[in-house]
Amino acid sequence: MKTIVIYTSQTGFTKRYAEWIAEAAGADCLELSAAKKKDFTAYEAIIFGGWACAGNISKISWLKGNIDNWADKKLIAFFVGASPIDNPEIKAALNQIFKESERKKVETFYCPGGLNYEKMSTPSKLMMKMFIKTLKAKKDKTEKEQVMLKMISSSYDISDKKYIEPILQCLKK
Ligand SMILES: Cc1cc2nc3c(=O)[nH]c(=O)nc-3n(C[C@H](O)[C@H](O)[C@H](O)COP(=O)(O)O)c2cc1C
Repeated sequence: MKTIVIYTSQTGFTKRYAEWIAEAAGADCLELSAAKKKDFTAYEAIIFGGWACAGNISKISWLKGNIDNWADKKLIAFFVGASPIDNPEIKAALNQIFKESERKKVETFYCPGGLNYEKMSTPSKLMMKMFIKTLKAKKDKTEKEQVMLKMISSSYDISDKKYIEPILQCLKK
């Protein structure tokens, strides 16, 4: 199946997953700004990857805006965030981000990335700082919140190639 992986990435985690998927699937791989100039006629499958940003997926509107143009293609979206794979909020977020009609046309997946403060833009760093400050100030933090607070206070990497497996399986279906 002729496939292209298109991604947007701020600190490199989504790029890494996009490259892993493209390599394993023998697919082309392009950053979103370059992909916008591309003709997709020849592709049978389009995989879009974006990073999680405040409960949404960065640049997901680009994919959503093209769903009807690509009705004849297999469409897959994956998103990469700082949460571990077992975070129950992931499914709820996906249900919020994609309408039911969109979920019928786009298969969705989550891949854990991490945080890289060294590569983050200044506005992103500020947003993270504010989030951490709010969480720190919260009284009666749950155990989960305490673990999260510790985790997100510095850079970490929980990405793993194994998380692309469900995406590859979906591509083969
Ligand atoms: C402003 C901001 C908001 C974020 N919101 C979320 C979020 O809602 N859920 C999540 O799991 N990760 C969130 N993250 C973490 C990023 O999605 C994570 O670092 C991801 O791996 C970045 O991917 P990239 O390296 O491709 O840019 C956020 C990061 C920033 C900077």
